[in-house]
Amino acid sequence: MTKAEARVAPAQVAGRRLLRRSRRKGALRRIVAGCLVVGLALAAPVRVAAEATRIAISCGALGVERRLCEQAVAQWERRTGNQVEIVTTPNSSTDRLALYLQLLAAGAPDIDVLQIDVVWVGMLASQLIDLAPWVGDAPAQHFASLIENDTVGGRLVALPWWTDVGLLYYRKDLLARHGFPPPRTWQQLSETAAAIQRAERATGHRGLWGFVFQGKAYEGLTCNALEWIDSFGGGTILDADGEVTVDNPRAVAALALAATWVGDIAPPGVLNYDEEASRGVFQSGNAVFMRNWPYAWALAQGIDSPVRGRVGVMPLPAGGVEGGKVSGTLGGWHLAVSRHSRHPAEAADLVAFLTGRAQQKKRAIEASYNPTIPALYEDAQVLAANPFFGALLEPLRNAVARPSRAAGVHYNRVSNAVWRAAHDVLAGQPADERVRALAERLARLEHRLRR
Ligand code: GLC
Repeated sequence: MTKAEARVAPAQVAGRRLLRRSRRKGALRRIVAGCLVVGLALAAPVRVAAEATRIAISCGALGVERRLCEQAVAQWERRTGNQVEIVTTPNSSTDRLALYLQLLAAGAPDIDVLQIDVVWVGMLASQLIDLAPWVGDAPAQHFASLIENDTVGGRLVALPWWTDVGLLYYRKDLLARHGFPPPRTWQQLSETAAAIQRAERATGHRGLWGFVFQGKAYEGLTCNALEWIDSFGGGTILDADGEVTVDNPRAVAALALAATWVGDIAPPGVLNYDEEASRGVFQSGNAVFMRNWPYAWALAQGIDSPVRGRVGVMPLPAGGVEGGKVSGTLGGWHLAVSRHSRHPAEAADLVAFLTGRAQQKKRAIEASYNPTIPALYEDAQVLAANPFFGALLEPLRNAVARPSRAAGVHYNRVSNAVWRAAHDVLAGQPADERVRALAERLARLEHRLRR
């Protein structure tokens, strides 16, 4: 098994399991239908009681996602009398996509409501229903840019559930103890992290690292790499028209700087870190800085968190070069209804309920998930629970989008090429050669895309 195969294996196994179950259910349905016919013939007239509809939703399980999903779904069940099965899917965005592609391609009706990444809309649109006829004026309350993202060929194929932007978490106590301000540039971050790591290790905290981020070869690394490159003024890999822009000295300099971190201020294992692995190191008190999404705030500040009360959060550093800027990748998860669903009306109603204002407010207060409804950033209770949310509106509005609109159905191939190149550079390959090879690969892909 190759490494790539090993990575998608859990998703494939889960997919096969769901498909098998789907076939078994099909057989069961045929048996039940057969019995009904016989029953009707023998004992007519029969009164069929109104039955609750059963639908299934896929929810993530990162941090407290699963618990939040269960609570919200239970509320909808009580309101409607319907029943919902929660299907847990892999945490890694990349593995989850592999599972969805397998299920959708097979036309499996097992998951009615899909939790999809903001960058998958173009890839999955043809497999999703148009929600517009079902959800009334709900779209008007969300950030217009997200609704635009979710509208493909005039069809509203998803509604936003929460939005994400890359942020920098830091240990306020360690910065204060060693007399450093929060870093404004990546170069300052490198220096501050190195100095604090050295000083702390010398006084006994041997397991302390300067910086943790998402360096594993998957979608999360594409997000990190885009932040480094764009903050150096190196562009967004493809521009809005799909032209390849990544082969430039700024992109090379950004990736080359990131490569110097590995084994120095970042543990060698960062090459295999996703969001939760980085959070594990930071939250147990073993890193000065961490790049992560907003969800990490509520957990780092949780009652049982060893770093509770000692964490600061701010926009990511800028590229400290002329033309450099702050750049946080736009992330987030949306809800969509599979076109293979047997209950689109109920599924769309669940989507409208979960993405609505009341649920988004609850998630923001309890677990610092960023609402996709701008009005909630002015809500006193939301701001009391997340003092940094007010300061997030700006980074969110300026968040850099991955080139998913330009790449459309081919986004995953583009992103795959990006994270592989970034991973190779982090692992020691020369940044200039690797970026050139990436640009050539993307240009070949682009050529195929345009034909
Ligand atoms: C977060 C983001 C999502 C991104 C993923 C990468 O879940 O919300 O958009 O693709 O991280 O790991």
